[in-house]
Amino acid sequence: MTGHPAADDAAAWFRDVFGAAPDGAWHAPGRVNLIGEHTDYNEGFVLPFALSRGTLAVAGRRSDGALEVRSRQVPGGGATIPAGALAPGAVTGWAAYPAGVVWAMRAAGHQVGGVSMVFDSDLPRGAGLSSSAALECAVALALNDLHGLAVPRSELVTIAQRAENDFVGVPSGIMDQSASLLCQAGHALLLDCRTSEAVAVPFDPACTGLELLVIDTCARRELTDGDYASRRSECEQAAGALGLRSLRDITDVAELSRLADPLLRRRARHVVTENQRVIETVALLRAGRLGEAGTLLAASHVSLRDDFEISWPEADVTVTAATRAGALGARMIGGGFGGSVIALVPADVSARVLESVRAEFSRRGWPPPQFLDAMPSAGARRVRGPFKPAR
Ligand code: GLA
Repeated sequence: MTGHPAADDAAAWFRDVFGAAPDGAWHAPGRVNLIGEHTDYNEGFVLPFALSRGTLAVAGRRSDGALEVRSRQVPGGGATIPAGALAPGAVTGWAAYPAGVVWAMRAAGHQVGGVSMVFDSDLPRGAGLSSSAALECAVALALNDLHGLAVPRSELVTIAQRAENDFVGVPSGIMDQSASLLCQAGHALLLDCRTSEAVAVPFDPACTGLELLVIDTCARRELTDGDYASRRSECEQAAGALGLRSLRDITDVAELSRLADPLLRRRARHVVTENQRVIETVALLRAGRLGEAGTLLAASHVSLRDDFEISWPEADVTVTAATRAGALGARMIGGGFGGSVIALVPADVSARVLESVRAEFSRRGWPPPQFLDAMPSAGARRVRGPFKPAR
């Protein structure tokens, strides 16, 4: 077990708040998706890796069956949910995420008792780096250990997703929770979202003289949450019109000419071509030719911008500036309409790329972008103990 620099501090806060020592601390990372955007809910392929940044949950069992939560990021925004009061719609705001996981664990038949938790996170929210999934997965792993449940990680993934879909009400796919719980340090995770087969693919840009930059454009989506749901629904309509279970079933874009609606054809073309780009990227990674994946990242961005129409001005400017300054490829990541961009760059031009992006933002009077470390890191883990399971 490796520790976490913020765990002792959070444990001291837990003692202040609850007047007792916690039973342990768990950390779940955010993720960057190298490629494979909006393919997960189309039963396609994704290739995320875990960040070192994430959410820390310090937790202790309690005997009254209630859930009580506090977050460093939401001062004064704690919540106490009595035993028996957990139902979709009953909890709002950030506390719906941990509450949703308790609910989903119980709905899956697991005996989850009362728990007190404090959270701390170094993931920017709304940056397309899966801060929500990190919170859910830290809670899922904590509950699993605290109550001695031994639920396999693959099932914790679906429990965390169910919390988000059915309790919080966001119709997201399976990528973020899979990345947070299943990724390994030094690897990306190739996930087949139809079969749930997950394969770790070695991913070490430094080995080939490259860097993967993560640039938070600091633009946040506003009033566009419905756009994610509408893209998902358009993909389902496209599959339905083609008489297919999902767009995963298409490998040849020529088949899309059967779609009469040009909008559905564009949405579907993104998904079909993006799945192919994931497979090609994995082949390049395995062959030690990561640099050649730059053109695939670039093509992914164009497809997300023009066919899927979910990019935003700061992302487009970042991609253009990074590419002009020597990046091999760059693209927006995540759900869209705000958040982060990744750029694959030769290590010796990374400073120039960052400077060029910074200059373009400043020229437009935009708030400066933030640059984050993108070390492929371990998935969720317990970072502090020991504790004795309840039974
Ligand atoms: C969000 C969702 C994921 C996935 C991405 C887009 O992060 O939570 O399930 O659909 O958007 O690739």
